[in-house]
Amino acid sequence: MAACVTASSNLAAQQTFATPTTHRYVRYMTELLQPDAEGIARAAQLLRDGKLVSFGTETVYGLGGDATNDRAVAAIFAAKERPSFNPLICHYPNADAAYRTVVANERAHRLAEAFWPGPLTLVLRRTVDCPVSLLAGAGLDTLAVRVPAHDIARALLRQIDRPVAAPSANRSGRISPTTAQHVLAELSGRIAAVLDCGPCSVGVESTVLDLSGKDAVLLRPGGVTLEAIEATIGAVAHHDTPGVLRSPGLLASHYAPRTAVLLNVSEVRPDEALLAFGAALPGAGSTFNLSEASDLTEAAARLFAGLRALDAAGQRRIAVMPIPERGLGRAINDRLRRAAAPR
Ligand code: TXA
Ligand code: MG
Repeated sequence: MAACVTASSNLAAQQTFATPTTHRYVRYMTELLQPDAEGIARAAQLLRDGKLVSFGTETVYGLGGDATNDRAVAAIFAAKERPSFNPLICHYPNADAAYRTVVANERAHRLAEAFWPGPLTLVLRRTVDCPVSLLAGAGLDTLAVRVPAHDIARALLRQIDRPVAAPSANRSGRISPTTAQHVLAELSGRIAAVLDCGPCSVGVESTVLDLSGKDAVLLRPGGVTLEAIEATIGAVAHHDTPGVLRSPGLLASHYAPRTAVLLNVSEVRPDEALLAFGAALPGAGSTFNLSEASDLTEAAARLFAGLRALDAAGQRRIAVMPIPERGLGRAINDRLRRAAAPR
């Protein structure tokens, strides 16, 4: 059997609990899956069911979740304990699968041809009907995509047949894992399974290159060198090039509602749109409830869709009910504070 732990059923082992810092996530008997047909099939099934599975790539181990499933993507942020929503990289078995979610351009085609599968991530515009969760892209109009050069990872990606969002499988602020044992040390109990893909051969993260604008911009140096990229598409700007602002959280293209945003409201007027959490305040012109059950994972999953829906509602402003500053609530509030900041 592929699973090495004694849990007879992953589901049976789940329970919600709170750590002393009141960070909530689902508790698992994390399965260690072998890189054989059975292990890959189990990993694919768990991912399709919305569970989190770590898998090895040639760079580092990723913390994978179904990128088309808002709840799975929110669970990635919860497991990593990230205080803010960074956009995540989506993984595909081949370039054609990636191009169903992003719009490829001439430079992308040339680079994909030269370096995929391999440690290069391309940031491109989302397709109009892109099925990837808005949360995976942190609300941006662009998406980071890559095809990893690892046979087991690609077999898994082929089998699940959906984009898989996967940041490095470490907790926030820690070192990226390059073996299944590192992942277990970081995330055991927080994720459904780790697919043991052996030690990573490259050991540093993929190079991230933004091809969504006029200039190609290097956002993160990594496994494919700048020299190799420039030999393929010509000059590349650096993220510290004067006038080019690329820190993801500060990106000018970061989705910000056009409607003014007011935080921590305790009452709401008929000319306001309400972003609710828990029992909705009465009296708003329109309401989008992030989570009637006051569940922060559900709220994170619905955040960007909610902001877009209320922005389109045409009210005077968006009034936001208080969100607790714990667990994923910190990342939600970080994003809302930016949406509310004077522009
Ligand atoms: O090697 C890797 O890339 C690993 C393996 C697992 O594939 N993944 C990884 O993911 O390092 P992560 O989430 O730790 O790093 C994602 C990087 C971040 O620097 C993020 O800011 C950038 O990609 N990024 C993702 N989407 C972006 C976007 N739409 N625009 C700009 N930057 C983006
Ligand atoms: Mg990382």
